[in-house]
Amino acid sequence: MVSSKQIRTEFIKYFEELGHTFVPSSPVVPMDDPTLLFTNAGMNQFKDVFLNVGTRPYKRAANTQKCIRVSGKHNDLEEVGVDTYHHTFFEMLGNWSFGDYFKAEAIQWAWQLLTEKWGLPKNRLYATVFAGDDKLGLEPDEQAEHLWREVADIDPSHILRYGVKDNFWQMAETGPCGPCSEIHIDLTDDCSGGKLINAGDPRVIEIWNLVFIQFDLAQDGKLTPLPAKHIDTGMGLERICAVIKHIDELKSNKPASVSNYGTDLFVPIIQHIEKLSGCNYGSGAKNLPDRYDSNDCENIVDIACRVIADHIRTLTFAITDGALPSNEGRGYVLRRILRRAARYGRKLDMRDPFMYQLIPTVIDIMGDAFPEIKEKAEFVAQTIKAEEQAFGRTLDRGLEIFEQVANGISAKGEKIFPGDEAFKLYDTYGFPLDLTQLMARERGMTVDEQKFNELMEGQRQRARSADKQGKSAVIISDEIELPATDDSAKYNPDMQIQGKLIGWVIDGKWIDDGTISAPQKAALVFDKTCFYAESGGQVGDKGKIITSDAEFIVEDTQKVNDAVLHIGQLVKGALSVGQTLDLLVNKNIRKDTMNNHTATHLLQWALREVLGGHVKQAGSLVCDEYLRFDFTHNQAMTDEQITRVEELIIEKIDQAHNIVITQLPIEEALQRGITALFGEKYGDVVRVIAIGADDAENIDKAFSKELCGGTHISNTASIMDFKIIREESLQTGVRRITAKTGRKLRELMHQRYDLTVELSQILKVQPEKIGERLTALMEENRKLKKQIQQGPAIDITAETQKLLDKAKKIGDVTVVIGELPHVPVEKLRGQIDWLRKKTDTLIAVLGTRNDSKVQLISAVDDKLIKQGVSAGKLIRQIAQIVGGGGGGKDHLAQAGGKLPEKLPQALESAEKIIRDALEKNE
Ligand code: ALA
Repeated sequence: MVSSKQIRTEFIKYFEELGHTFVPSSPVVPMDDPTLLFTNAGMNQFKDVFLNVGTRPYKRAANTQKCIRVSGKHNDLEEVGVDTYHHTFFEMLGNWSFGDYFKAEAIQWAWQLLTEKWGLPKNRLYATVFAGDDKLGLEPDEQAEHLWREVADIDPSHILRYGVKDNFWQMAETGPCGPCSEIHIDLTDDCSGGKLINAGDPRVIEIWNLVFIQFDLAQDGKLTPLPAKHIDTGMGLERICAVIKHIDELKSNKPASVSNYGTDLFVPIIQHIEKLSGCNYGSGAKNLPDRYDSNDCENIVDIACRVIADHIRTLTFAITDGALPSNEGRGYVLRRILRRAARYGRKLDMRDPFMYQLIPTVIDIMGDAFPEIKEKAEFVAQTIKAEEQAFGRTLDRGLEIFEQVANGISAKGEKIFPGDEAFKLYDTYGFPLDLTQLMARERGMTVDEQKFNELMEGQRQRARSADKQGKSAVIISDEIELPATDDSAKYNPDMQIQGKLIGWVIDGKWIDDGTISAPQKAALVFDKTCFYAESGGQVGDKGKIITSDAEFIVEDTQKVNDAVLHIGQLVKGALSVGQTLDLLVNKNIRKDTMNNHTATHLLQWALREVLGGHVKQAGSLVCDEYLRFDFTHNQAMTDEQITRVEELIIEKIDQAHNIVITQLPIEEALQRGITALFGEKYGDVVRVIAIGADDAENIDKAFSKELCGGTHISNTASIMDFKIIREESLQTGVRRITAKTGRKLRELMHQRYDLTVELSQILKVQPEKIGERLTALMEENRKLKKQIQQGPAIDITAETQKLLDKAKKIGDVTVVIGELPHVPVEKLRGQIDWLRKKTDTLIAVLGTRNDSKVQLISAVDDKLIKQGVSAGKLIRQIAQIVGGGGGGKDHLAQAGGKLPEKLPQALESAEKIIRDALEKNE
């Protein structure tokens, strides 16, 4: 059987022989394209070439691209697992022409590869072409239609026209696009599938899409012709492998059940799932030569196996390429996928984390073509396992609740699953909405999505308002319409401007006439401002707004839509709408903040240098006191790494690089490799902060280039110094660094210096010896503590020996009575044992005491017990004297008391009691 590896190689080789350059797959996480959550097509990495903002040293390219389709324009999630030919992750084989060949060659080569090289039966192939569209003002693609007849010997009745939905391809809501021509294959037993094209039927599936890229689609839906025409093709490797596997059956019109899950890309994963769960894939398939080729779409076990096999590939590749499960953006997509798989795992009775165990199998299959998954295997497994564990804690309870609610609804004969229950499952049990929807669908129900969204929005608003209330006493709702402020002066170095007061917000209300008098809390809005409103992690400015007789203290600056709100207190005088005021930013605070902002860019660069290119910004906070930077990395940094990062940054500070700030069209910026943050909305023209370039012409030479709207210093020298003061874990795979710079760092250093001096005086050593001295003191302390616990280091046996030397003989009984230095009671017992060995017939009473308590022990030889002498009785009597009690056996007893000063008396009395007892027996 032809393997997937062979098919992949043959495709690339075929196009290489036709003058194409092999280009490796780009990462599945396109960190540099904010219009895309995941790479969804082979052409993504060539977007800049199509848009004429980038070039490549070749005009023809071929590759196999890792793609994920779970969101946005191309989203196959719902079909995945339910059918046998859609995936969240798949490989797209593709060939490209950049302004070189066009439709004729693309069609001819595709046809030849499929029919001549791979031998697909021609009578089963169909070609679709674009039928034109009035709204877009586009004609039917007669040229393609004609070429299909001309350069391919396809049955002319197999050339069909379809509209925009099927035959006009666009990458995302905006960007390169064009009419396309798709090749479909009829897999029906009797070649009767013509009617099933584009009908979502597994018996007739699309295998290859040839796109004739000609336009750039703008946000407003307008198509702009591109300067050149390009070819962009894409063929799913999984599908073509499934078809080629059954080629003989297809040629001989024998029934064939073609499934992507029957190929060597999936079978080992499914076998692994069977092994882990004990389930049997394909058991519902009837009369099939190979159960992995089951098209049985009813069997829940089969669906579960397919979903899990599909999802583990997606998770492995996405996490390898830098995405991480989280509650936002692409991270939430991964979380949803993982939770969906975990829930299907329950259908196979898998309760413990299992997904991560499948990773080695994915690597066995794909690791040669994509070695990066081998390198990151451990990290990926840790991440997935942690996620599985976290969701596993609430999954069962959530499933129970779902069942209860669903049963209740069924009992009432209803079909709507309540939105508040779906929200509870989301909020408390971590069930993404689409998971609840999927489970509802399985029960023939739909979720009340509107109610769910309302609750979700309510929660968001509460979070926002809590956030804002925390920041200031002025509560501002997003719904108030406020006039826009011209805030372009926020970048001006003098940080002051005159502005006309347009109005204010007080207690959530917008007022645009009248006067306010001190004292009054308010948020002022001006026609223009030099205050920077919080954004991009940089805090809002503080400062003053004054007239000759009024003063308003700005505690925070926030933006609501396009209005800049100066939030604070009028502390003196009165202000009237229409008045012109001096707006003065607190320069010290702002300068410290700017130092920290530029330092954050240096930090991002240095982290990538030291830890590697996987480091991506996951969040940041820049204020005057410190900077905080969250980034993707799955291990604590070592001390050496932290030091190295600091050294690199300090080197850049010392080299006094100018900060170059320039504006570029977004496409150009992305093409020039400038770091963008996913999820940020960028306009058509973006602001670029470059460090290490002499001027705007040379920003490609800069070592740090980021899209950023924040305020920056003009030269790195102003940062003065940089120190990481904390490095910690924020969540799985995300670390947080807190660092200080400039004056604030200097203040901290001075404090620490003074502290060192104080310590050195207290410890009476040179500062550099403080550590040594403290270590020695701590060691001494440790030893002393131990000694106190163990009692003094005295030779207790020698002391007992002394007592034995003084022992009285009464008959043949040796009577040892006396006090030993203070020792723990166990030691006393040890001494009794020692005495027993040394004497034939022993009676002993030993006492020990410290300032607050006394311990007594007594022992009587077995022979004497028969005569009625008892250690227990004896000890009880004498314990009373020391204000305590005790007891024990006839041969050994022990007591404690609270009157240490009475010990000698107790011992004396012991002697007397013993004498009396022995004499009585004589
Ligand atoms: N870019 C085209 C597609 O994804 C080939 O279908």
